[in-house]
Amino acid sequence: MAIERTLSIIKPDAVAKNAIGEIIARFEKAGLKVVAAKMLHLSEEKAGGFYAEHKERPFFKDLVGFMTSGPVVVQVLEGEDAIARNRDLMGATNPKDAAPGTIRADFAETIDANAVHGSDSPASAEREVAYFFSADELCPR
Ligand code: PPS
Repeated sequence: MAIERTLSIIKPDAVAKNAIGEIIARFEKAGLKVVAAKMLHLSEEKAGGFYAEHKERPFFKDLVGFMTSGPVVVQVLEGEDAIARNRDLMGATNPKDAAPGTIRADFAETIDANAVHGSDSPASAEREVAYFFSADELCPR
């Protein structure tokens, strides 16, 4: 299986719950390595650019409002099949549909505030990693 990199964001609701460590522990226990990480308070412009593909969706304004409501932790995870593996760990977008034991089942309350983001394809992962990190900020190991 291919070694991949994927972008993960611990969203403001999970940061506010003091769940950063527990969430990162789940990635590490599943064999994913954190090869870059930073804590940021996103501007409207930065959050809006990140979610630009959803610009016409009815929830876009609220999504940007939520993502700028407090700090986030942005990280790059590396490992075999990292994109799909991270999505499995996260669970469904709507926490009500998330399988027991997934991050969203355990830490998220609503579809608007759902604890984590993870790239959904190799093309998204490449774009999203580059959106937050320069090549010299990645520490492969
Ligand atoms: S969809 O509906 O399949 O296109 O959704 P998805 O591509 O998985 O991601 C949409 C992102 O927007 C966030 N969000 C919402 N989605 C759907 N409905 C509502 N009301 C909503 N509010 C916010 C959702 O959490 C996804 O964020 P990310 O960060 O990509 O997981």
